[in-house]
Formats: sequence, structure tokens, C-alpha cells
Amino acid sequence: YGLPGFAIRAASRRGDLIARLTGDPVLRDDPFDAYDQLRAQGGLVTNNFISATATHQVASKVLRDNNFIASPGGAASEFLDRVLLAALDPSAIGPVDPPSLLTIHPPQHTRLRKLVAHAFTPRAIGALEGRIQAVADGLVDRLPTDGTPFDLVEDYAAQLPVTVIAEILGVPAAMHAEFLNWGNDAAATLDPALGYRRYRRADRALRELNAWFDQHLARLRRDPGDDLLSQLVHTVEDGDQLTDLELRTTASLLLGAGFETTVNLIGNGAQLLLAHPEQLDKLRADPTGWPGAVEEVLRYDSPVQITARIAGKATELADRPVPKGRGVVVMIGGANRDPDVFTDPHTFDVTRSNAREHLAFAAGIHYCLGAQLARLEGQVALRTLFERLPKLRAAGTPVRRETRVLRGFAELPVRG
Ligand code: HEM
Repeated sequence: YGLPGFAIRAASRRGDLIARLTGDPVLRDDPFDAYDQLRAQGGLVTNNFISATATHQVASKVLRDNNFIASPGGAASEFLDRVLLAALDPSAIGPVDPPSLLTIHPPQHTRLRKLVAHAFTPRAIGALEGRIQAVADGLVDRLPTDGTPFDLVEDYAAQLPVTVIAEILGVPAAMHAEFLNWGNDAAATLDPALGYRRYRRADRALRELNAWFDQHLARLRRDPGDDLLSQLVHTVEDGDQLTDLELRTTASLLLGAGFETTVNLIGNGAQLLLAHPEQLDKLRADPTGWPGAVEEVLRYDSPVQITARIAGKATELADRPVPKGRGVVVMIGGANRDPDVFTDPHTFDVTRSNAREHLAFAAGIHYCLGAQLARLEGQVALRTLFERLPKLRAAGTPVRRETRVLRGFAELPVRG
């Protein structure tokens, strides 16, 4: 959010609620009280540097209003983005730096999103269900069922999304473990508060990942397969085509977004259902409830808790002035617990009728391109796990991941 880790920590020590919510590791386990406190202070709360919202109404408005820009160049312009881009070392450009879809804006975003969506159609995703099921079954086959403890994150939740997205991108199976490591290290770039050493590790992981993708894309140019990346390499629309840098950034975004988040959806869902057996019973009685249950997991324990925008021009939010250039932190996890939209928001209820109104996939032009794939993976992964391991139960204390932006578990000890 434009603030280095030490500044977040200093502000956090002074009790600044926004700084605490964006950076304080103490809030990692349970940020929900703090979201409620922030919301109680109004639709928009402002400290010396930044504004923040934990209400559903203001969060949706910020995400849907293109005057709020998701760009490191922010309030500036496409020109400044280009200057920034030219200044960056190309071998270290990561999945969230421009020209990543996540941080560019119209018209550049419109063009790139159209080209990528071209190879990422709902039909193509729907056709993957059988493959996702086979991956889930193959993983469950390897889990112990004699009561031996295992880690549900390492042995299941983390394996499924990386296998699926790597197959979609045409990444060979031998590289999956390497990709998991790169992804875990690179995710630290999302949390400046994690500190310099983690940042250095993230930087190294990105460079290695980029070098691998450059070679891979060169191979696909010569010898395309029937995977999504080969399609992207050769997609031409109205004479327009992705540049090399756009291809590589999109590939690493799809890879990172494709598994760093979905692993948390599966892990969070499994932990919630183990902790709420009465909810699991409802799904056992009526398996058609699984899609709704996944929406409730996304709402209750959103894998992406926080995002941010920058005001491209002076405006107002919740009757408060917002100057041009002001950063607005959107507490997705807080909006999804807003009592104005969700009755008893702190209750986990797999039959909740409006869970789908959550903002877990954001909204507006940056609405998650992989939402349909993530939903499908979450449904197949959780249903398969609980159907095939009916005795699954907790076998120790779960350990949360250290990131605040991404909410999930690093370890989830269970036995089957
Ligand atoms: C964007 C969440 C899975 C690809 C986003 C954003 C969120 C999000 C919140 C918007 C961020 C912002 O506007 O600041 C999630 C969650 C997932 C998930 C919670 C899983 C539970 C996936 C998967 C893929 C994917 C599986 C692809 C394989 C993308 C892409 C964008 C995006 C490409 C950028 C779209 C754009 O800026 O136009 N996701 N995502 N995501 N997601 Fe996901």
C-alpha cells in the first residue's frame, strides 16, 4: 500500500487501526473484531497516509468505480506506468507489476483482458471438471486412512490447484514442486510488512520463475501444445497479439493467482467444516449444497482479505472527501462480514441464501478471471475429501500462514 513494513509496524504500535489491519501479524489469526471496529467508525476511515473501508457498500463502490485505479502508477497515468516499467529490471517483473492485468487500467487493461479471456472461456473451464475430479481422486488415493496423521495443506489443499493450473498452462509435472516453492516465496511481495529478508527471497523466486517462463514460452512458439499458454502465444485478435512481456507476466499471474489463493479456499473450507460438524452433516444430507457451501467459505474466510485502489481524481466516499492520489484500502474480509448485507455475519452457515454477494473475487473490471475455476476446484476438492474420508478429523492445532493479505493455513494436521 505504498508503505514500507517498518512504517506500518510503527503506526501499528501507535494503535492506528488501519495500519494494524494492513500489517499487524497479531491480527493475522482473527482480524474480524478489528474490521468491526473500523466499520463502526464509518464507511471510510482515514489516517495520515491512507483511507480504508470495511463496509460492503463502500468496498463495492471503490472496486466498481474506474476512477479508483488499481495501478502502482496509481493516480498518475499510463505514461507514468510506462516510465515505471522501463525503470524496472525486466527479469524481476512479477505477477502483480504492470503489465499484469491486476495493475493496469483501461484501455490497456481492456485490451489485455480480452485477449486472455479469449483462451479462458467459461466453456473451457467447465470442460475441466473431469480432470479436476481425477486430480482430487488421485491425491485422496495417496492419503492414509488408518488414522495416521497427515497435513491436509501439504498433502492435499496445496497439491490440487498447482496441478490443475500447471496442466492448464502446459507446465510439465516434474516442475510442480518447484512451482510451489516459487509461489510460496513470491507471495511475500503482497505483504510489505513481512520485511526485507522475505522480500529478497521473493525477488529471487521471481527471477527464477521468469527465466523458466521465458524458455518455456520460446518452446511453445516453436512447438505449441493444446494448453492455454500455447493458445495465448498464438492468439491474434483484430491483428492484436500479446507481447513477450505480457505473455510472461500473464503466465506468472495465472500461476500465482491460480494456486496461492485456491489452496487457501480448500484449506479454509476443510478447517471450517471440521470445526462445524453440524454444517458438514447438512452437506452429507444434501450434496447439492456444496456450491453454496463454497460461497460461504469464500465469504466467511476470504482467501484474499485486502486489496487497494488509488483515487484517480478528487471525489467523495461515504460523504467524506477523497483527494486525488489517496490510497484506499478495501478490507474484502471486513466487507464480507458486514451485518447490513449478511445476517449474523460471524456465523458460518453453509445454507446462507445470499453468501454469493461476497466480494471475495473483488468486483468491477478486475473481477477475478479465475473465479469459475476456483469455485469448481473448491467444490470438487472439498466434496471429494469429505465423501471419501468420512472419518476425517482434526489431529492438532492448525497453523496460519504468515501473510495478512492472503488468509489461509500453512499446516492443518488431520487424520482420516
Ligand atoms: C483477480 C481472488 C483464484 C486469476 C482477482 C482479484 C481477487 C481474486 C480478489 C482482484 C484483485 C483486485 O482487484 O485487486 C481470487 C480468489 C481465488 C482466485 C479468492 C480462489 C479462491 C483464481 C484463479 C485464477 C485467478 C484459479 C486463474 C487461474 C485471476 C486473474 C486476476 C484475478 C488473472 C486479474 C484480473 C484482472 O485484473 O483483470 N482474484 N482469485 N484467480 N484473479 Fe483471482
